This record gives sequence, structure tokens and C-alpha cells, in this order.
Amino acid sequence: MTNLSLKPYISEEQIQQKVKELGQTLTKKFKGEKVVAVCVLKGSFMFYSDLVRAIDADITCEFFGVASYHGGTSSSGEVKVTLDLASPVEGKHVVLVEDIVDTGLTMNYLKGSILSRNPKSLTTIALLEKPEALKVECQLDHVGFKIPNDFVVGYGLDYQGYYRNLPYIAQVQNFQ
Ligand code: IMP
Repeated sequence: MTNLSLKPYISEEQIQQKVKELGQTLTKKFKGEKVVAVCVLKGSFMFYSDLVRAIDADITCEFFGVASYHGGTSSSGEVKVTLDLASPVEGKHVVLVEDIVDTGLTMNYLKGSILSRNPKSLTTIALLEKPEALKVECQLDHVGFKIPNDFVVGYGLDYQGYYRNLPYIAQVQNFQ
């Protein structure tokens, strides 16, 4: 499982530079405001922890657990909630932080779920987006990198649970 051939794709330095830029953009938007930053588990935990440190605002942290891939490499299209938000977001500014938007189904589900709780505003952000893989329309407010429709791992993203701890993003060359 952990002997897949990986091709480095987005370096640690490129990721950190992008996180800094996104942090500055969100700081401009929310400076002096209270913001609930929602981490979508598990994949966005690393991006999220870097991003919240790059935003200068009054942030509280919430975690939303969803599973859609069930360990494979193609989306099942079904979104299963594994952990709901612990606190209400009604009347609050919410920043929803995703690792990657592939078909768009998960992000659309998450947006619907948050909006149904009547936040003051909802800002969506994804580190990666695969525009060619979208199956539904999915508008994002901020995207780190647009990438081709290839399977990637690292910096929180996994293949069957592995590779999340890589500090960079790599394309998988050989599935077994
Ligand atoms: P979507 O619902 O198809 O947009 O899928 C979103 C979820 O699928 C993400 O939050 C990831 O957990 C997972 N995913 C999509 N593409 C990749 C990939 O290239 N590598 C690892 N996980 C992925």
C-alpha cells in the first residue's frame, strides 16, 4: 500500500506560499470579525491547521467529518456524515475549508448543510479543484490550485488512509 510510485506535483514551498496568500485574502475580508472556520475531516486537517494560523481574525474552530470515497480512487457520490458540527453557526460568518473538490458532490452537500443552519455568511475555500472532474455545478469563493483529473495524495489527502502525512502533494503513478 505504501509503495506506490509518487511523482511530486506541488511542493511544500508552493503550498506554504499559497496558504500565506489565501490567509492574507481572508484576513482582509474578516479582520475584526468573529469567524467560525470549519475543517472538513479528514482530508483538510493539514491545510486547515496552516490556513487558520495565516488568518488574522477572531476564529473559532469546528470540525465536520464526511466520507465519500470509502478508500477507493473514484467518488461514490454518496456523502456520509461521520462527525457533525459541535456548535450552532446561526448568525455567524462561516469559512468552510475543504482539501479538494473533485465531482463537487461533497462540497455541494456541505454548503447545503451549512446554509440550512442560517449562518450570517458562508465562504468556501478548497486547496485543490479538478475542474474536469466536476459532475455538478460547484461555485467556490477561493481555490488554491486547479489541477488535472489525476489522483493526488499528501498534505492531508490519502489513498486508502495512507500518505496524508506527506508535507507536499504528489500524483500517484501506479495503482496496484
Ligand atoms: P467529491 O465529492 O467528488 O468532490 O470528492 C471530494 C472528496 O473526495 C475530497 O474531500 C477527498 O476526500 C476525496 N478526493 C477527491 N479527489 C481526490 C484525490 O485526488 N486524492 C485523494 N482524495 C480525493
